[in-house]
Formats: sequence, C-alpha cells, structure tokens
Amino acid sequence: METGLLDAFSKKYKRLLDSELRTLVERLDAPQSIKESMIYSLEAGGKRIRPLLLFATLDAFGIDPQKGLLAASAIEMIHTYSLIHDDLPSMDNDDLRRGKPTNHKVFGDAIAILAGDALLTYSFEVIGKIPSEFSTPDTKLKLVMEMAKAAGTEGMVGGQVADMEGEGKSLTLEELEYIHIHKTGKLLGFSVLAGAILAEASQNQLNNLSIFARHLGLAFQIQDDILDLVGNQQVIGKPVGSDSANLKSTYPQLLSLEGARAALQKQINLSKFYLEKTGLNMNLLMEITDLVASRDH
Ligand code: IPE
Ligand code: IPE
Ligand code: MG
Ligand code: MG
Ligand code: MG
Repeated sequence: METGLLDAFSKKYKRLLDSELRTLVERLDAPQSIKESMIYSLEAGGKRIRPLLLFATLDAFGIDPQKGLLAASAIEMIHTYSLIHDDLPSMDNDDLRRGKPTNHKVFGDAIAILAGDALLTYSFEVIGKIPSEFSTPDTKLKLVMEMAKAAGTEGMVGGQVADMEGEGKSLTLEELEYIHIHKTGKLLGFSVLAGAILAEASQNQLNNLSIFARHLGLAFQIQDDILDLVGNQQVIGKPVGSDSANLKSTYPQLLSLEGARAALQKQINLSKFYLEKTGLNMNLLMEITDLVASRDH
C-alpha cells in the first residue's frame, strides 16, 4: 500500500471545505450574531475527519472529490452543531472545544443553542443546493433520508440520550456499544455512505462499506474515550477527564486502558477487513483508518 497520500489530499480538500463553509454561512441573510457564532465553531479547527471520509470514498470510486463538497459541508455542520450542544452546561458542561472556549462560553447559552439549530437546519438546505450535474433528485432524496436517520432519534440524538441517561450508572459493554455506535458511529458512517450514494455504488459495495464504517465509528469513539483519560488537553483541544467528571461509562472504565486499546485494535482490524472486501482503490480510506487508530487528538 502506498502511504503519505492522505497528507496532500487532506490539505487540498480541507482548504476547499473551509472556504465553502465560510461562504455558505456568510451568504445567509440573518442577524450577524448567529452567523458569527456559527462561523466561530465551524472555524475553530476541527480535524474534518467526516468530510475527509466522504472525499476519500468518492476518490475510491474514481470520482472527483469536489463533487462531494456540499454534502461534506452539510455533514460538518451537523457534527459541529452536535459538539456545540454536547458542551452545554445541561449536557457535558465543557469549557474548551477545538482549543478555544466553547460556543456558549463566548456567545451565551441561548445563541449557542440557536447556532446548533441553525447549523442542523441549514445542512439540509445545503444538500438541496447540490447541482443537478452532480446528483439526480433521487440521489439527493436518498442523501436527505440517510442524513436525517444518522443525525436523528435513531442515530446520533438517540445515542446522546442514552449517554446522558447512562451517567452515574454502570452500563454493560453492550449498552455502551449502543451509545458509541449511535452518538458517534452513525454520523461518521453516513460520511462514507454519502460518498457511496453520490458514487452510485452497487448494493454489495454499500453493504461492505457500511460494515466498514460501523467498525470505524466504534473505533473512533473508543479512541475518544481513551484520549479523555490519557490525552493531552493542549493537543486534543478539549478538557481531559470530562467523562469521569460526568460519571460516564467509557471503554477504559469498563475494560481498563489496556482492554480498551485491544477493543480499538479489534475494531480497526475489522474495518480493514471489510474495506478490502469492497474491491475499490482504498489507499486513502486505509490511511484514514490507521489515523483513527493512532490519533492523539
Ligand atoms: C468529537 O469528534 C466528538 C465525537 C463524536 C467523538 P471529533 O474528534 O471529530 O472532533 P473535531 O471535529 O476534530 O473537533
Ligand atoms: C459526543 O461524545 C458525541 C457527539 C455526538 C457530540 P463526547 O461527549 O465523548 O464527545 P467529546 O469528547 O465531548 O468531543
Ligand atoms: Mg457527550
Ligand atoms: Mg462531550
Ligand atoms: Mg469524549
């Protein structure tokens, strides 16, 4: 496998994404305060892993990743909204995100809640803006349906509810897996699925890619739990120890740090197994998978 491809790829597409996100928000005819709050969190320096997954999936199908720019922007908006709300005092009550004070610390709870609402709602409009030469109306409808499912009650929101309701309880590994697969895995998985939908993948490719993404999403959240315990706040850009302060069940808490690392490796191996089964040019997706396993932020 070639390595080092991802660096140049991510630089190029992150730059395009950053400018697209800014343009999309700036053109809104709305009070300056909400636009500032949206841009503050969008530009706070996220890793953009979900957009990269979408771009890399398109690339695996031999399709110009730029065709996924609006879909990637929509996903990053939903992800950013989920972080703004996740940090609120009534949720994880965190003060630092992406290396900067959290949205509500700067703009107040009301604007932070509304910025989240605005990003979520706008994301669907942004899918609607995909030009007809990049996707048929049927494809757009599929994107909307799958994005709603991934972000909504049966997806990320359901996972966040179970996460909140699990605070202070000792959960089983199965219950914790439900939380991780939903609060994090569903939207991350949609990033891959959106690329496959835009590429008009076969049913067989869709099946293997969705199993790949499910394992990758779980791996991503296991590493998030590990970093909450052993990460460096300066590097991860958010508080270390937030999970234990909120009495959350996490992989390290249930399995020990060593056990969590083994569970992470298992999910990474499964991700790669299903990725290989797609028969696509998967160099970039493989590199992203390795990154998820080794990331320090
Ligand atoms: C953090 O996601 C929240 C989770 C779902 C684990 P990321 O680690 O992708 O956060 P950013 O976008 O890089 O800030
Ligand atoms: C949040 O999980 C997942 C979301 C849907 C935002 P965490 O609460 O563990 O995410 P961080 O650690 O605050 O980024
Ligand atoms: Mg949380
Ligand atoms: Mg949190
Ligand atoms: Mg966390």
